[in-house]
Amino acid sequence: MVIGITNLKGGVGKSTLSQNLAVALLQKGYSVCILDTDIEQRSSTKWASIRDGLGDGVAHIPVSSIEGGQVAKMSEHNSSLYDFVLIDGSPQLSKTATKTLLISDIVLIPVTPSGLDIWSFENFSLRLEEVKTVKPSLRAYAVLNRYRGNNLDKEVIDVVENFGVPVLNSKLGDRIAYREAPIAGLGVLEYKDTKAQNEVQSLLTELENIIKS
Ligand SMILES: Nc1ncnc2c1ncn2[C@@H]1O[C@H](COP(=O)(O)OP(=O)(O)OP(=O)(O)O)[C@@H](O)[C@H]1O
Ligand SMILES: [Mg+2]
Repeated sequence: MVIGITNLKGGVGKSTLSQNLAVALLQKGYSVCILDTDIEQRSSTKWASIRDGLGDGVAHIPVSSIEGGQVAKMSEHNSSLYDFVLIDGSPQLSKTATKTLLISDIVLIPVTPSGLDIWSFENFSLRLEEVKTVKPSLRAYAVLNRYRGNNLDKEVIDVVENFGVPVLNSKLGDRIAYREAPIAGLGVLEYKDTKAQNEVQSLLTELENIIKS
């Protein structure tokens, strides 16, 4: 199962979601790897290297930093080795982003509630529509990140759904644990903050239900 975590906007939580989902899947007994397509920042690659330095108590999660040209081949190859291949997306309207949409079984689109993100979401949803004309089976869902439950957040959900993209019920709040855990090479499930941990568990359960349906 290939899960693309992508959005054309930078800083919306693609790497945060990739890492936390990877840890959640691993804890649930699945095998998982991450393909890091953000060759500029390599956030998940750096996260994995800190993680590997933590010793035996922390499970290894393979993360490969790859160029856009390799994404299709690598995801196909890794699909035969792992239950889940997570693609941590790059923040541009690039060929890699389009390829990620084309090769993913499910696409998760982190969205942070801000006007700027919503403007960029319109472009993203157009690209998604184009891809769906050649791949009607594509299942794409927005995941609200840094959610606070205020009026703006609720408006953002309406706007995203009006673009034809369903929003998952599970949302990630704006929490320090999401900022601290990556620097420690961990996911929040291995770190702290019960609220953050419940959010990630809920996201995993919702994803598993989508996969089963
Ligand atoms: N739910 C959250 N609560 C608090 N901080 C968050 C949350 N999600 C992400 N962040 C912080 O926001 C910043 C951007 O997140 P992240 O790196 O995951 O985004 P990204 O989409 O991968 O960015 P890029 O496009 O630069 O790769 C990071 O400093 C991260 O720790
Ligand atoms: Mg990133």
